[in-house]
Amino acid sequence: MHINKKEARYSRIYTQLAGLVQKSNSVTAHMATIIAVLHHKMDSFFWTGFYVMENGELTVLMYQGPLACQVLEKNKGVCWAAYATKQTVIVEDVHLFPGHIACNSKSNSEIVIPVKNRQGTIIGVLDVDSKEKGAFDETDARWLEKILTLIGPGSNFIFQDEEQ
Ligand code: SME
Repeated sequence: MHINKKEARYSRIYTQLAGLVQKSNSVTAHMATIIAVLHHKMDSFFWTGFYVMENGELTVLMYQGPLACQVLEKNKGVCWAAYATKQTVIVEDVHLFPGHIACNSKSNSEIVIPVKNRQGTIIGVLDVDSKEKGAFDETDARWLEKILTLIGPGSNFIFQDEEQ
């Protein structure tokens, strides 16, 4: 997607999501809504979902797309890399990423963004896969990081878990 088109698309999505999250205080509702809107409005998103830390394991939460790995092998793959470094990871070609975990063989590129709670603790990651190689860039990283700040204000759900 051309950079201007991508910017405009994300800007509209952000505005829509900012309105939608005001309709509830539920972290779960916010996360599910973010996944649904992103997955259906961004053409290249083939798998869109959250993995969250549960008892030391990155475990799948809500997602859209084909069946996902339920739990990710520890300290392996792109999601664990983003979680451990607390940084967004963009992978142009997943087949070249050492230890990449292929939940679906059709995925060719990936972006993973750490998700922070209101105390700044990383509680999991947003993971997006594309069938296209090189689908994600700094524009995706910037907007997806911004969209994740809409989650909240927090409840007694996962956002109060301790980092493992
Ligand atoms: N590819 C990810 C695993 C999750 S799936 O893409 C849904 C990884 O290497 O961590």
